[in-house]
Amino acid sequence: MKVDVLLGLQWGDEGKGKIVDVLTPAYDVIARFQGGPNAGHTLEFEGHKYVLRSIPSGIFQGGKTNIIGNGVVLDPLLFKQEAEALAASGHDLTRRLSISKKAHLILPTHRLLDTAYEAAKGSGKIGTTGKGIGPAYTDKISRNGLRVGDLHDFEAKYQAAKARHEAILRSLNFAYDMESLEAEWLDALDYLKRFDFIDSEHLVNSYLKEGKTVLAEGAQGTMLDIDFGSYPFVTSSSTVCAGCCTGLGVSPHSIGEVYGIFKAYCTRVGSGPFPTELFDETGETMRREGNEYGSVTGRKRRCGWIDLVALRYAVMINGVTQLIMMKSDVLDTFDTIKACVAYTVGGEETTIFPYEATGDLNPVYVELPGWQTAMTSMRSEDEFPEEFNAYLSFLEEELEVPVKIVSVGPDREQTIIRYTEDS
Ligand code: GDP
Ligand code: IMO
Ligand code: MG
Repeated sequence: MKVDVLLGLQWGDEGKGKIVDVLTPAYDVIARFQGGPNAGHTLEFEGHKYVLRSIPSGIFQGGKTNIIGNGVVLDPLLFKQEAEALAASGHDLTRRLSISKKAHLILPTHRLLDTAYEAAKGSGKIGTTGKGIGPAYTDKISRNGLRVGDLHDFEAKYQAAKARHEAILRSLNFAYDMESLEAEWLDALDYLKRFDFIDSEHLVNSYLKEGKTVLAEGAQGTMLDIDFGSYPFVTSSSTVCAGCCTGLGVSPHSIGEVYGIFKAYCTRVGSGPFPTELFDETGETMRREGNEYGSVTGRKRRCGWIDLVALRYAVMINGVTQLIMMKSDVLDTFDTIKACVAYTVGGEETTIFPYEATGDLNPVYVELPGWQTAMTSMRSEDEFPEEFNAYLSFLEEELEVPVKIVSVGPDREQTIIRYTEDS
């Protein structure tokens, strides 16, 4: 069998959690492969709403194996809070979730460094989630990290890392209270030990040999990728399809479907270029109708029209085989909808995503008629208004990949699988 991968194609928060949950019944194994608690994946069903940070979104469907892969950075404290909250709501994870020994730990000093570096950057700050992601991946790449599998031989490595971090914090004149931070973190580290620490690369590959189906759940989005995103306003992991190979230990030959997920418009949290950003009433309407506030930080998400230059780039980098369009209902009341099909850069038109999407860059839009129909109660594509079908056909032509799933609301049930001719 192959690993199917679900990836965000924009700047994150496309609705990955919801769709992983919807697709989970068709899979035996759900695995996260990168990122950490910077993610906030929202699921809604049966009147309940859950936000997952490090735990795979397959956790609510019974009988599935959930894995936190080696490419993830894990904060034991946030993990404990997340797992305890789930247990309190009747979802005990201990027998259904295992963690790769090769996943790196986020230390309390990584969180402090994240905040201190951002403060030092001043107005040039990235606008990180403050979860220690960058510093933890920095230690991984510089070969100074601590891994989940190191817990039996922890003390000396931990003290060395802490001393190194504290020297940097002192040089940045950053004040903090290590004692209380450390006490709760160490307590959480003990809690972590009740989960199975596994060689996930061996397990995932043996599952594939046995004919089991695996769904890899991406976090963040392609435009936040460390290599291909709007650097330096990116996260510190490989959020693209290739990240699944390194983050789970599977060969490129093992990748099957690549689900690319996007909103019918576009959002971004934190700093950095966003060519189609709106600063007017239309952007406000998107924020209000789409409830565009960060699920982890509560920050206002920046809103704008769909950007097909960036989306084509994301489709190319990931080799997307199926598209999933989210939050269609947010545009229900719009009389016209704009889609950016090209940019002008220094007066020249281009359809290539530029090295830096800043400076004298302007989106070129086409306008399509809005559907002006409430979509949230629709459950079949037969109910789609003509203008909505026209929008889908336009996107499929522009992106050269079929849109197989359409989401019309946050609930699990508000999901429409399209039965196109080849399905
Ligand atoms: P993720 O990080 O990609 O999992 O996405 P988030 O959970 O951060 O953000 C998506 C938000 O949109 C969440 O609040 C979801 O409940 C919500 N959502 C998902 N799909 C839809 C949809 O089709 N319509 C509306 N209105 N909300 C949606
Ligand atoms: P999900 O998985 C949206 C953004 C931050 C910041 C940049 C770097 O829910 O889609 P970091 O803390 O990773 O060093 O922050 O990346 N960011 C996200 N934006 N959704 C996310 O995750 C994000 N994770 C990080 O806002 O701009
Ligand atoms: Mg999110």
